[in-house]
Formats: sequence, structure tokens, C-alpha cells
Amino acid sequence: MKIISVAGARPNFMKIAPLMDAFGAHPDIEPMLVHTGQHYDEKMSDLFFRQLGIPEPDINLEVGSASHAVQTANIMTAFEPICLEEKPDAVLVVGDVNSTIGCGLVASKLGIKLIHVEAGLRSNDMAMPEEINRVLTDRISDFLFVTEPSGVDNLKREGVADEKVFFVGNVMIDTLLKNLEKAKASTIMTDLGLSPREFCTMTMHRPSNVDNPETLGDLLGAIETIQADMPIIFPIHPRTRKNIDAFGMTARVEAMTNLRLVEPLGYLDFLQLNANARCVLTDSGGLQEETTVLGTPCITMRENTERPVTTDIGTNQLVGVDPAAILAAWDKVKAGDYDNRAVPEKWDGHAATRIAEILVQRLA
Ligand code: UD1
Repeated sequence: MKIISVAGARPNFMKIAPLMDAFGAHPDIEPMLVHTGQHYDEKMSDLFFRQLGIPEPDINLEVGSASHAVQTANIMTAFEPICLEEKPDAVLVVGDVNSTIGCGLVASKLGIKLIHVEAGLRSNDMAMPEEINRVLTDRISDFLFVTEPSGVDNLKREGVADEKVFFVGNVMIDTLLKNLEKAKASTIMTDLGLSPREFCTMTMHRPSNVDNPETLGDLLGAIETIQADMPIIFPIHPRTRKNIDAFGMTARVEAMTNLRLVEPLGYLDFLQLNANARCVLTDSGGLQEETTVLGTPCITMRENTERPVTTDIGTNQLVGVDPAAILAAWDKVKAGDYDNRAVPEKWDGHAATRIAEILVQRLA
């Protein structure tokens, strides 16, 4: 049984790694890996392949950056001939990026079974490109593998047949648990001169947060206060760096002496930092889940989350972009209110194995 798995952007790589392992180990699966090239910088892509032991992609579509329409169209145009040539039994896509919907559409229109890993998550905010990608990918998928109970409920509400939906846990957490020990060998803490629980980490790159000068300015206001309390390590995304410069905010950022901008970090270094941070400030999706498993408090600077289990039982606080709300959440972190809460069901390191077993049974 030939399965083409697709990865394109940074958050896909930690999800694809355990799936390639599980597929490679299964006698009945012939795995193939396609990298769309949506992310292409060494630090956004190659580094993750090396650190996570992901096999060299069989094919790289090298689509690169462009507007949403052009990027998605380029992914589709490049992926179609591969499906025609390779005739896979199924195509597997992960997450919610443009590579996910682009390759998903190609497969479903060619009548190839489509597998979506991390199905059913909903922010209910169609202004997010990722929400559009999630909803549409789920609609055309034949196998929907879900990470948390809300995903099952969402798919049921949208009328997806029960037999297509499988609650299997979280492949991204498979990768985290597998690499936790290895990450302890990282020298990043000493390199940056940090002591456990005496610093925060931050990521920020959502268009809704960094493409609008007013919102970005508000967020920087809250960050000014927090960094005065405790150093913040900020591996900055290319999009955010570009906008800070374009909006004339570079001097303001440089004036925050405890906000330490670093290049995008590799998986192991960043895991080691997040495991030791007092708090993680983010607008990412995946980090809300990783911090919940690490027991590290997380402040999510967004109006909504598609991962509600992290706020219901995990260490995550969803606070929006209002500086007062962010600072109130920071006070709760300092008071210890969000340390070590519960880990969601089936986030146990075995999601990819469950997925491989189900696929072999159902596709045979
Ligand atoms: C994409 C995903 C987002 C994910 C994020 C993680 C979509 C719709 N969004 O957003 O869900 O959280 O990846 O990073 O797919 N760039 C580089 N080098 C690279 C890649 C990008 O410099 O290797 C710069 C380019 O200027 C590019 C910009 O980043 O225009 C945005 O890249 P793009 O892939 O369009 O979206 P992300 O913002 O990275």
C-alpha cells in the first residue's frame, strides 16, 4: 500500500516525523515523502529534518513563498503530476497550512483516498487562513484523525460520518516525548546564560497579530512590561522581523533590553527552552499543546483557540491581544496558578502507531 505523506511548513515537520517512522516500520506500507518547499530556509526546514531524523523527501516541489493564491496554486500544479505518476493508494496531509489544502484538493479530485492528521480542530474564525484550510481539508478527507475530544464534536456537528473519524491522540506529542531526553543535551541554556524558570520564551507570527501596526504596537506594550520582570527569548519568524522593520518599530524593540531576539531555533533547542521556561508567550497553535504536556504555563495572545483542551485542562490561558489581559495572565503565572495541570487523553507518544494500524486495516 503506497502512501504519499506531505509536509511543507515548519509545524508540519514534527507531525510527519513519527508517521514516517511508523509507516517505515510497517511491512504493509510503502511510504513516500513529498516536501512542498513552502518553507525552505535552513532554519525553518532542513534543520528539522536532520534533528528529527525525517527521511530525505523523495520529491521537493520547491514552491517557496508567494501570496496565498499563487502559493496554493503552485503546490497543486506541482503535486498533480506526482500523483498521476506514482498512483498512491492514499495521500496523507497534516495540520492546516497551505500545503495541506493544496495537496488535499489534488488527491481528492483524482479520486485518491485522503488522510487528514489533526482533523476537526476549529477556531471558528474564518479570518484565519489556517481555519479555511482546516475546514476545507476535513470536508474532502476520507480518514480524519483527531487529537482531542473537541475535534470529534466539531466533525459530528458538521455532519461527517462517524466511521471516517478516529480519535487517536497527537502525533506532535509523539515527537515531543521521543525527543525530551535528547533535548536535555542541548547547550542552549548555558549558551544564552539562562537559569530554569527565570526566563520566558515567546513566538509571534500570526498575520492578525503582526500585519497590523496597531495590534503589533499593543502587543509590544505588554511585552515591554513582562520583559522588565523577566528576560524573554524571542526566536523571531521572518514575517515578524520584516513587519517590525516596515512599521518603524525596530528602535522600540531594541530599547527592550531584556527582550532577546534570536534566529529561529532548532527543535531540540527550543524544546529545551520551553521545558525550562517560567512561561511561554505565543500566538502559535502547536505550542499551546506542547506547553500543556511540558507543564509550562502558556499565555496565548489570540482571541480564539482551535485547541480548547489546552485551556480546559492544560496550562494554557487564552487572553486575546489586549495588553491589560496579557498582564493579568502574567500575574496568574507568577502566582503559580498554571503550573503542571493535566495532560489530555491519548497524548502518550503512540498516536502515529495507532494511525498506521487503522490505515492498514481499512485500506487493505
Ligand atoms: C505558515 C502557515 C502557518 C504556520 C507558519 C509557521 C499557512 C497559511 N500558514 O505561515 O499556519 O503557523 O507557517 O511558520 O500555510 N519565509 C522565509 N523563509 C521560509 C519561509 C517563509 O523567509 O523558509 C518568509 C517569506 O517572506 C514568506 C513569509 O515568511 O513570505 C511567510 O511564509 P508563508 O509560508 O507564506 O507563511 P507563514 O507566515 O510562515
